[in-house]
Amino acid sequence: VRIEARPTDYEIMIGKGLIRDLGQIARKSLPATASRIALISNKRVFELFGGPARQSLESAGFDVHPWLMGEGERYKSDRTLNKALEFLSESRFARSDAVFALGGGVVGDLAGFAAAVYMRGLPLVQIPTTLLSQIDSSVGGKTAINTSRGKNLIGAFHQPHAVVIDTDTLVSLPRRELTAGYCEAIKQGAAGDRALFDRTLEFLSSTNGTDSFEELGHIIALQCEFKAAIVAGDELEDVGREDSRSRKILNFGHTTAHALEAVTAYKRFRHGEAVGYGMVVAGLISKGLGLLDHSELELLTDAVRACGRLPPCDDLDVEQIVETLAHDKKTVLGKLKWVLLNRVGHAVIVDGDSISPKLLRDSLHTAFRPNN
Ligand SMILES: NC(=O)c1ccc[n+]([C@@H]2O[C@H](COP(=O)([O-])OP(=O)(O)OC[C@H]3O[C@@H](n4cnc5c(N)ncnc54)[C@H](O)[C@@H]3O)[C@@H](O)[C@H]2O)c1
Repeated sequence: VRIEARPTDYEIMIGKGLIRDLGQIARKSLPATASRIALISNKRVFELFGGPARQSLESAGFDVHPWLMGEGERYKSDRTLNKALEFLSESRFARSDAVFALGGGVVGDLAGFAAAVYMRGLPLVQIPTTLLSQIDSSVGGKTAINTSRGKNLIGAFHQPHAVVIDTDTLVSLPRRELTAGYCEAIKQGAAGDRALFDRTLEFLSSTNGTDSFEELGHIIALQCEFKAAIVAGDELEDVGREDSRSRKILNFGHTTAHALEAVTAYKRFRHGEAVGYGMVVAGLISKGLGLLDHSELELLTDAVRACGRLPPCDDLDVEQIVETLAHDKKTVLGKLKWVLLNRVGHAVIVDGDSISPKLLRDSLHTAFRPNN
């Protein structure tokens, strides 16, 4: 069966107040047949931005049907997915309609997955409202829900028709959510782009990450450009690829992060905060294996610190974390793969077998020490 390559180009639009232009953007990005929009969000985000989003879409002639899901990671579940799919079918959504995801990564992942599977795929527009979702989860087409066995275990690749990033949404974002987003921003630079890392760290050091939303808009654009380049080169995260431009490098810090989130029942850490610790663990392992210089490790650790305060984790049982790591979904042929660094800005993928149990435990203990 020979199928012509699908065109999956889409634009990421970034700017102040873009939600007010959503209707016009939707007209340009969606197929001409689109008339009805399922606007999926949660209560908090919808109260903040649902009004202008809806108004703009209705002014452009769309029939808007909002549907609100619960707030928090635990709602990225099969139960919520089923409810979303029921809503779409009860409202008689058809292939010519579209799903819009208005919210953070949780809304984006769930609404995106509903759009991917309902009638084998509806057009999707992502309107990310957290820093993490603006620089990372809304770009690249990964959608998923969690199961009791772990995060993102059921999902699909479903590229959006457009990503609309309104930087004004960040003004209401709690400080912790910014910290989580900064951690992911540092991750992207550390894993694959030294200039991006330097620019992000410079921003964090100069403004303390609090007040310059205009400059943050530039950082978001650079971050999206980086993520888009990686995704364009390895859209489906080829299992066989292990080079420094493979999509896998974006999992830098995520092996430990997923274990930290699991052992604390997804209650203690924001995802990005757990990635903050995960990067330090991966950095220490990299140094322990002789891949990374001491000064580069210091640079990475300082950058994580510059993101903001992380919840403590020195009370956690390292053995339980080691046990949880063994079940990580990033295994190939039963082997855990670690994304490590040989310098800041350049990742290497390493077999878990080459990391001794002692190095792993020492790195976890060191990274979890207060004031590390
Ligand atoms: N698909 C991908 O490629 C990808 C990549 C990274 C992370 N993720 C997923 O993203 C999720 C985390 O996303 P997140 O960090 O955005 O968390 P989130 O979606 O839970 O949002 C964080 C909190 O901020 C609130 N919120 C959202 N926007 C707001 C705003 N503008 N003002 C005030 N409050 C606002 C939300 O209601 C929520 O309480 C995880 O499930 C993770 O697995 C997916």
